[in-house]
Amino acid sequence: MASLQRQRLLVTRTLPQASQARLDKGLEGVDVVQWKEDCAIPRAEFLKMAKGADGILCLLTDKIDAELLDAAGPQLKVVSTMSVGFDHVHVPELTSRNVALGITPGVLTEATADTTVLLVLASARRLREGMSAVINGEWGTWSPTWLLGSQLTDKTVGIVGLGRIGVAVAKRLKVFGVQKFLYQGTRPKKESEEEVGGAIEFADMDRLLRESDVICVCCALTDKTKNMFDYNAFSKMKKSVVFVNTARGGIVEQDGLIRALREGKLGSVGLDVTVPEPLPKDSELLSFPNCLVLPHIGSGTLETRTAMSEIAIDNVLKGMKGERLPFPHDA
Ligand code: DGY
Repeated sequence: MASLQRQRLLVTRTLPQASQARLDKGLEGVDVVQWKEDCAIPRAEFLKMAKGADGILCLLTDKIDAELLDAAGPQLKVVSTMSVGFDHVHVPELTSRNVALGITPGVLTEATADTTVLLVLASARRLREGMSAVINGEWGTWSPTWLLGSQLTDKTVGIVGLGRIGVAVAKRLKVFGVQKFLYQGTRPKKESEEEVGGAIEFADMDRLLRESDVICVCCALTDKTKNMFDYNAFSKMKKSVVFVNTARGGIVEQDGLIRALREGKLGSVGLDVTVPEPLPKDSELLSFPNCLVLPHIGSGTLETRTAMSEIAIDNVLKGMKGERLPFPHDA
């Protein structure tokens, strides 16, 4: 009897423990090759290791383009990214080669929304400045006027992108006494408005920028949203605005943000995403006391990362069998 041909799966990083154990136990009919260093797979290595792969399980740090697909070869059936965002993947190239793309939607909504709220509160309450004062011995006696932040009670919050994460952010912020939500996106979303409940309206971008006390960026990075927040957009915001981005660094035109911060146009800024990542230590962005930067840890809980890697494995295994992915990018 002819033996079934084994398939080759390339995994570009060590996965969270439970999922790594699943790989290490062995997958029926599949040979796993894996980049296990504690850094993103170098491009040259990626091109080499992709050769002959039937499936690739990658991360948001791995660029999937024509060069990589050429290096992999025509047998490649599926790319499964352990992320909900897929701006690192050249989708038309995959489509033209009939390669399926899997993503990990849903499971990171709560953790990312938590991080967004964390940044809103930390920025509004000047956490970075307070912590630095304590560490640097600048904490004087209690003062009625020192380190005053702002609170969410009766405020207007602008959400850019009322998708799963945007809704989860609005629901969380609502309990802090927000008066009204304005949102932007490709279209008004009645079901999402109902899910949030209370005062929520679709608004044009200009109105959202001018009227919001807090702005949360929760949309995907696309050709339309790239550099959407530039100096001009920051100039329209309230001087006291709390601006938070947990989506993708590329949605913000970073030089414009730096200029706006330098000119004191923004109240406070909280970022979980930047360009590039990691942000160099000498980036001017890190010099502003009212700008707090986290190292892209929006989905960084053990529960969420495990759920993401499990879905990524399920997606890639289905795709290698030529079956429909549980979570395709275009569902
Ligand atoms: C994603 O999955 O796109 C997130 O950015 C990971 O945190």
